[in-house]
Amino acid sequence: MKPTNDNSYIYITEQKEYIDRMRADNEGYAAENGQRRRAYVLTFGCQQNEADSEKIKGMACDMGYVLTDTPKDADLIIVNTCAVREHAEQKALSFIGEYKHLKAKKPELLIGVCGCMVSQAHRQNELKNSNPYVDFIFGTSSLHLLPQIICEKISKGKRIYYPFSENTEVAECIPIKRESTYRAWVSIMYGCNNFCSYCIVPYVRGRERSRKKEEIIAEVSSLINDGYKDITLLGQNVNSYGKSEGFDYDFADLLAELANLAPEREYKIRFMTSHPKDATHKLIDVMAENSEHIAQHFHLPMQSGSDRILKIMNRHYDIERYLKSVDYMRSVMPDIALTTDIIVGFPGETEEDFECTLEMLRRVKFDMIFSFIYSPRKDTPAAAMEDQIPANVKSERFNRLLAVQNAISLEKNKPFENKTVRVLCDGPSKNNENVFSGRSDGNKIVFFDGDSDDIGRFIDIDIYRGDTFALYGTKATK
Ligand code: 5AD
Ligand code: SF4
Repeated sequence: MKPTNDNSYIYITEQKEYIDRMRADNEGYAAENGQRRRAYVLTFGCQQNEADSEKIKGMACDMGYVLTDTPKDADLIIVNTCAVREHAEQKALSFIGEYKHLKAKKPELLIGVCGCMVSQAHRQNELKNSNPYVDFIFGTSSLHLLPQIICEKISKGKRIYYPFSENTEVAECIPIKRESTYRAWVSIMYGCNNFCSYCIVPYVRGRERSRKKEEIIAEVSSLINDGYKDITLLGQNVNSYGKSEGFDYDFADLLAELANLAPEREYKIRFMTSHPKDATHKLIDVMAENSEHIAQHFHLPMQSGSDRILKIMNRHYDIERYLKSVDYMRSVMPDIALTTDIIVGFPGETEEDFECTLEMLRRVKFDMIFSFIYSPRKDTPAAAMEDQIPANVKSERFNRLLAVQNAISLEKNKPFENKTVRVLCDGPSKNNENVFSGRSDGNKIVFFDGDSDDIGRFIDIDIYRGDTFALYGTKATK
């Protein structure tokens, strides 16, 4: 099972001396000042970034920091950025701008910026030149070097830059401080080889590299033993797991093994994201055969309903192929929840192309869609294309798309009325602490009359209302 290419697997043990050094320093500070130094981590973007931030927090805790939710109390602030759309970058930059005032009040405050935004050279330069109070910047490929970066910053006193490097390493054994005690992310691979013409990810996260099966199985086993109930496997394109390494097992094999790790325990495995060009019948069969432990939900980003646009997007499938996968899924899992990503206003998208996308929504009837207005990303092929769509046309199409989908989501949720749905309870909802929320197997939000004992448990809910964005119910009495 030796990797056939030259990917190397490195271990965080190399960082141990830096972790120990920082811990000694932080303990000295705590003894002198009667309180520990505090770390604040702000995260933008996708689940992969959430997972990376849990590693940043894990390393910070090992270095002797305690975590805080208030940046003004922090001695260390790390902003984990996203670059997938312009809006995410602007938001991060505006938060980073605010921290200037904190640094002015507390000069010993350390501020670091990492993630996808700063893995682009132009953004890194911009921060270097315009934000002199930022102490260190590190790209996605240097996440595991955080202890060393902080030590270097302190010992050398200079600003530290670890630009994004196209490395092929997979870092193992990074400590993780998980947000939840019952839901967990597990990265199974990093990077992307697909180069969809609109997407920045391959440039900021590098080429695909997969973790070894043994490492993933060990992590998932220990999560199940620790009582985790909902485990999401992460990768930009999980269907090509292990391909670059030439592993003699594929994603479907991995999933089947994880589904059978602890047959007697109640847990669900999820995964995201899949690429339609690689979604195999084998994978769908594994899901169908292991419905007890694999959530019956498939997130399959379609991006557009027009073959012409899919071609320019460099997606390598057409609508016929996409529909075949959907039809096969529904033939073996009639109740599967299907979700997708749609980009509106890709360069050159005509009214007819957009109509094809609406037509696909009506044909497939997704349970939910994640829709995005096309955002040009510097140095991607689509950003250089002529016939960019004007902002007003993009937003008008976006609103029409939502109106069509909202009616479909309602239509999909209505049939849940008077049915019982098993839900993993998350706790009081954001807007009303008397109403609890949770997620169904199909990842639908469910609101109900829970209590604190339910948090982190599976419970049956009798649904009385199926609405556009959520299901509403009461705890089943039987
Ligand atoms: N503009 C808008 N949406 C984008 N996505 C990726 N790149 C862009 C972009 N430049 C969307 C895709 C992808 C999701 C995670 O983000 O739909 O599936
Ligand atoms: Fe981006 Fe395409 Fe890779 Fe997804 S598959 S991360 S959309 S390049």
